[in-house]
Amino acid sequence: MRLGAFFYATGHHVAGWRHPSSEADGGLNLKRYVGWAQRAEAAKFDLVFLEDGSGIRDSNLRSSERTARSAHFEPVTLLSALAAVTSRIGLVATTSTSFNEPYNVARRFASLDHLSGGRAGWNLVTSTTDAEAANFGEAGIARHGDRYARAEEFVDVVLGLWNTWDDGAVVIDRASGQFSKPDGFRPLNHRGTHFEVRGPLNIARTPQGQPVVVQAGSSGPGKDLAARTAEVVFTANQTLAEAVEFAGDLKARLPRFGREPGDLKVMPGLFPVVGRSEAEARAKFEALQDLIDPVVGLALLERMVGGFDLSGFDPDGPVPELQEAEGAKSRQQLMFDLARREGLTLRQLYLRIAGARGHSQIVGTPMQIADEMEARFRAGGADGFNIMPATLPGGLDDFIELVLPELRRRGLVRTEYEGRTLRGHLGTRPPAGFGPTAPSGSGSGTKEGR
Ligand SMILES: Cc1cc2nc3c(=O)[nH]c(=O)nc-3n(C[C@H](O)[C@H](O)[C@H](O)COP(=O)(O)O)c2cc1C
Repeated sequence: MRLGAFFYATGHHVAGWRHPSSEADGGLNLKRYVGWAQRAEAAKFDLVFLEDGSGIRDSNLRSSERTARSAHFEPVTLLSALAAVTSRIGLVATTSTSFNEPYNVARRFASLDHLSGGRAGWNLVTSTTDAEAANFGEAGIARHGDRYARAEEFVDVVLGLWNTWDDGAVVIDRASGQFSKPDGFRPLNHRGTHFEVRGPLNIARTPQGQPVVVQAGSSGPGKDLAARTAEVVFTANQTLAEAVEFAGDLKARLPRFGREPGDLKVMPGLFPVVGRSEAEARAKFEALQDLIDPVVGLALLERMVGGFDLSGFDPDGPVPELQEAEGAKSRQQLMFDLARREGLTLRQLYLRIAGARGHSQIVGTPMQIADEMEARFRAGGADGFNIMPATLPGGLDDFIELVLPELRRRGLVRTEYEGRTLRGHLGTRPPAGFGPTAPSGSGSGTKEGR
């Protein structure tokens, strides 16, 4: 079972930063992240995972004043610092294909792979909010299909650029004056609909051959993109049946791209609130729920349902019918399904998602949490989980001290790192078809994990 330590500044619960045990300045304090990352590494997690937006994503800035989410480090910059104080754990950062250029992204993650000795991963997303678009001179977010079309081409360019250098091309021969092998790198010469990129990259082929691509986006186009290019998919699902259906559908798309089920790991988010007894877990959860600011809770829900203004609706009435979102389509559907399945009012729905944002949420004992994880894993609904601590560091420590020993006892998670690279931890293979064109015999990616 693969495990990610998903660090949302100050913890995933929307009111986590207000809890007396949390490191409320976490988003702006490197020392906090260093502590969390080193704890996760000591516990042998596969990776640290950081989400990101290209701006404050709430449309109502007054609500943003009331959440610690409004101020945090840019994730690749942060992971570069964490690379220096960790040695084994994978480092995955989110960078959007909507508001970046592929050359910059390829170069940044190649650098992170070098800096970390082969531990970099890029979580590829398409941005979903008009608030972000407004930071880049655009009136609103592009249409779902158009964003995915750009993302498809974007990832081709990034993968292509990572493969513009052969393995071993850098020879640094002072005597002959040859820094790199003749023809050891070459232009990409990409000419497409969205991008024209000559290349090559101005950084050599990376320790992993190419950083690991992670994808987050769960609609049909999202799954197709992942099946073609990703080694990990981060997703949100509620029920075991949904998880199995999603993973099955995704993996069924792999053969079309010459890939096998083991080449791609599905890692849904999991929000655990752990107690030694069920009552203790519930008390921890209720203490957080009591701290939810209604303005912040509603703003979070507004984003999750696709950026609609919900302030005019009765909070104690039903969740209104809304038009299909142009942004986060899969999350909007998840919200509607959840409200319908559990018969929730608007207020009950924002309280329900204030911790996990639609990811699976378990408030219970280590045994109950391990049972649920094992059930999803064995049923084929997950190859692992992106663990979302409610508060930091407490929620992470609870998981490490209480749940991990139970997972280890069941033989589900590693006790030691076997390899040194992220791809080695995951046991995946890079997507086919992007290897170097020169006959270096190196293929794409490293031997480790192939
Ligand atoms: C589990 C999950 C995590 C996501 N994380 C981010 C993120 O950190 N930043 C971001 O801009 N978009 C994020 N997205 C948005 C997706 O990239 C995508 O734009 C959105 O989900 C709409 O596509 P879909 O309908 O295919 O899911 C995430 C989506 C999912 C499903």
